[in-house]
Amino acid sequence: MKGKTKYVAFSTQKGGAGKSTLTVLVASCLHYSKGYKVAVVDCDYPQHSIVEMRERDLNMALNDDFYKRMAYEQFSRLDKKAYPVVESDVKEGIADAAYLLPQDDFDFIFFDLPGTMNNEDLIHTLAEMDYIISPICADRFVLESTLNYAISVKDHIMSSGKSKIRQLYLLWNLVDGREKTELYEVYEAVIRDLGLSLMKTFLPDTKRFRREQSLNRKPVFRSTLFPADRSLVRGSNLDKLVDELIELLK
Ligand SMILES: Nc1ncnc2c1ncn2[C@@H]1O[C@H](COP(=O)(O)OP(=O)(O)O)[C@@H](O)[C@H]1O
Ligand SMILES: [Mg+2]
Repeated sequence: MKGKTKYVAFSTQKGGAGKSTLTVLVASCLHYSKGYKVAVVDCDYPQHSIVEMRERDLNMALNDDFYKRMAYEQFSRLDKKAYPVVESDVKEGIADAAYLLPQDDFDFIFFDLPGTMNNEDLIHTLAEMDYIISPICADRFVLESTLNYAISVKDHIMSSGKSKIRQLYLLWNLVDGREKTELYEVYEAVIRDLGLSLMKTFLPDTKRFRREQSLNRKPVFRSTLFPADRSLVRGSNLDKLVDELIELLK
């Protein structure tokens, strides 16, 4: 399992595609359930939605007895700390990761990047990733713009010879219903023709992707302190996503 630290970004130019949510879900699963050591660098200035999520999660874990006990139980059992969430921006993200996170100590460092392409800093930061995963959804306009994004990453960054990117994978998110319809086959043919890689796993559109720690103490899905609750993982394909990523990013 040990080896060089992998830099990974869920990245597209499309806001609301699930970048931050998927970063947290995958990071928490790898770190708290699968035995990997993870860090997150939140470069999406000024929203910093993962930094803010960590603050909310911590507040809840310090002030609510239910989550306090849950945290105590988990962290004594695991004998490791919560993964660091570094507040940064796209210009400083790589330098901050190198400076603040003892390299080689981590199996994966996830970068949450902003969704703008024509930006020199973003291009330089993307070029430092080992893997990029671009969430797509079956809306014609979203898909077209995300495919353009993926192609421009391939043509302008990956083929420059100066990037570290080993592969870019597209990932279906927000899929309506439990099964993909025929429409997806049409789109997948286009994706193949463009020479882009697509992950096998797809993620359904379900409300639990918004479920965080809350005063009602219902099972938690999206948290920077806990892995998604097993009862909610069923039917979300999160377990499949993580297993496929572990295979692909080896
Ligand atoms: N598979 C999904 N099903 C339902 N809601 C989702 C799914 N993936 C993401 N979302 C929701 O979509 C919204 C945008 O996601 P977010 O991760 O903030 O996107 P981004 O970081 O790309 O802007 C969030 O409210 C999130 O909970
Ligand atoms: Mg985001």
